[in-house]
Amino acid sequence: MGKIAKLAVAALSLTIAASAFTGCAPQKPKVQVGIVLPTKDEPRWVQDEARFMDALKGQANVELLFSQGDSGKEKQNVETLLTKGIKVLIICPQDGTAAAAAAEAAKKEGVTVISYDRLITNTTAVDYYVTFDSVAVGRAQAQYLVNQLPAGTKGASLYLYAGAASDNNAFLFFQGGWEVLQPLIADGTFMIKNSAEAVALQGKKNLERAEMAKIIGQISTEWNFDVAKKKAADNLTAASAKDKGVCYILAPNDGTARAIADEFAKDKDVSKYYVSGQDAEKASVQYIIDGKQSMTVFKDVRTLVRDAVTMATDVLAGKTPVTTGSYDNGKKQVAAKQTEVITVEQKNVKSALIDSGYYPASDFTGL
Ligand code: BGC
Repeated sequence: MGKIAKLAVAALSLTIAASAFTGCAPQKPKVQVGIVLPTKDEPRWVQDEARFMDALKGQANVELLFSQGDSGKEKQNVETLLTKGIKVLIICPQDGTAAAAAAEAAKKEGVTVISYDRLITNTTAVDYYVTFDSVAVGRAQAQYLVNQLPAGTKGASLYLYAGAASDNNAFLFFQGGWEVLQPLIADGTFMIKNSAEAVALQGKKNLERAEMAKIIGQISTEWNFDVAKKKAADNLTAASAKDKGVCYILAPNDGTARAIADEFAKDKDVSKYYVSGQDAEKASVQYIIDGKQSMTVFKDVRTLVRDAVTMATDVLAGKTPVTTGSYDNGKKQVAAKQTEVITVEQKNVKSALIDSGYYPASDFTGL
């Protein structure tokens, strides 16, 4: 499939069908909903594209574009969609702050802007936000690590990694993780081995954004496998044998978890490691089956897609979309619809991801 995927909103078929039958010749349906996703280079967003396709079979009044990790390209994509007359923009920003300009351009044309998965920050030009509970993602990752601690453990080696500082979610994940880990760092159960900034703040449970930014600046993977791999390798080179042994690793998502896990697996001073993830990417599901990644946080993209499509459909029908709360984006409280997440580890991988019909068993070996 090309870069531009023509998709369809089944729920909009009435509008389209009505206009198509007003003339003799069938009219080319207008693009009403534009979708912009960050990059095709990460399985997470390809997953979202596929789920949008599934949800929107059959028509051509929706167009989906990828920004390939570039805010400039993202802005161009939005402008292209605006020239096609979209009424609703569903956008997952590459960079939450930089995307404010694209959102503002859409708003100027009277388009309703729905931030998808990642929040667009520092602008009033965002109308709605559909998201998973990202703080709960971080809590689930950290709680998994805590659950692996043998009773009475002291000084367990803790390695912290985070997402890209340009992504508001990276802060939410880290916030959730820190909330759970910090009391056990403060009482000496865990010892942070790879971040002086985190060590400096280890007495404080509720961090300010600027404090988190300092830590994330040091432990960021930038959501990039190569950066994650290099950071893990550098951390392991800098650490002494006694800083290794059984390692507890807070990794922010599946792609970075696999990169980091591969480095820890290679180190002869690491006797065992536990590593978190998120997204239930197929490669990580296989890693979990094989015992190479410990857990993932399953975010059912079908639900997020359905929520976004329902919201867009409501907006087009002149109805107010259902929201369940709000998120502060620095300039406004953005009305949000939030979805829960599920911890998946070896013992429930089959029931959560295969038996539930999310993935076919044939995609994996050794189940
Ligand atoms: C998403 C994650 C994803 C990460 C990297 C985050 O904003 O919520 O699911 O793994 O970006 O793309």
